Amino acid sequence: MSTPKVISFLNYKGGVGKTNVSVNFAAHCAQNGKSTLLIDWDPQGDSTEYVGYGRENVELTVFDFLSENLHPEKGVNIAETEIKNLWIIGANSSLKNVEHLVSREEDTFERFRDLVHECGRIFDVVVIDCPPANSHVNIASIFASTNVFIVTTSSSDSIDKIGLVDQMVNDISAVIADNMDRDEYHLPTLSGIILTMAVENTVGLDVAQEHLKAIWGNLIIEPAIPRTVAAAYSVSENIPLMLSRQNTKIAIRYRKVFEEVLHRVN
Ligand SMILES: Nc1ncnc2c1ncn2[C@@H]1O[C@H](COP(=O)(O)OP(=O)(O)OP(=O)(O)O)[C@@H](O)[C@H]1O
Ligand SMILES: [Mg+2]
Repeated sequence: MSTPKVISFLNYKGGVGKTNVSVNFAAHCAQNGKSTLLIDWDPQGDSTEYVGYGRENVELTVFDFLSENLHPEKGVNIAETEIKNLWIIGANSSLKNVEHLVSREEDTFERFRDLVHECGRIFDVVVIDCPPANSHVNIASIFASTNVFIVTTSSSDSIDKIGLVDQMVNDISAVIADNMDRDEYHLPTLSGIILTMAVENTVGLDVAQEHLKAIWGNLIIEPAIPRTVAAAYSVSENIPLMLSRQNTKIAIRYRKVFEEVLHRVN
């Protein structure tokens, strides 16, 4: 059986573009004929809104799947979005207690991973849009992922978190390797770093890029994603820009970055 592809986009820093990257990557996969599941793992429900599904339409969040031990089934408890090939386990504020659930019950990491890997057997790609913060919920997302990608802006407080996420991925990988049957589970790997909201032709961006490359080398995925109004507009319209603004500079850059992401995952 092939390994499920479970991809999470992470940074403990908030507002760095994680949701924009997650949703547009999921839309890119769906547009290219891959059956794709987007898991909104953030009670803000931003990716649920951005794909046009609507927070108010969410009947079951991951919280319900975990607390009721539900098995994922397309069209039964996993909803299809209006975007062809794109399915969602959405989020809204009812997910807010999940941090408590995950921190209180030790086996929740395993149960979340089992749920996500089950999803990985019925979808070609599973994408997890993670919340900000160094939280149990994000430990769970790393635990469940086959590939972790860090999303960062060029600001130092965003770049500073890369080392923490890298350390966490290594620690979790080591714990899994020690405790699990290696044949059964794939160890999570930090597979790339995506620089986004880049303000082009500025010294700040050049310095950030040089600094990132010096420390993280080939983990940096090029090109950087620019800061553009198209991104903000597409969010307010609730249509991923990969679908609504296919010929814009940002969509073209995203396409290159996402092809590299898929290359690294395969
Ligand atoms: N490339 C971009 N150009 C311009 N604006 C962007 C870009 N990417 C994201 N944004 C905007 O920046 C804000 C934060 O982006 P986003 O919600 O993707 O970040 P996040 O890391 O998911 O935030 P949070 O930590 O709150 O979940 C949003 O208003 C979004 O529309
Ligand atoms: Mg977000």
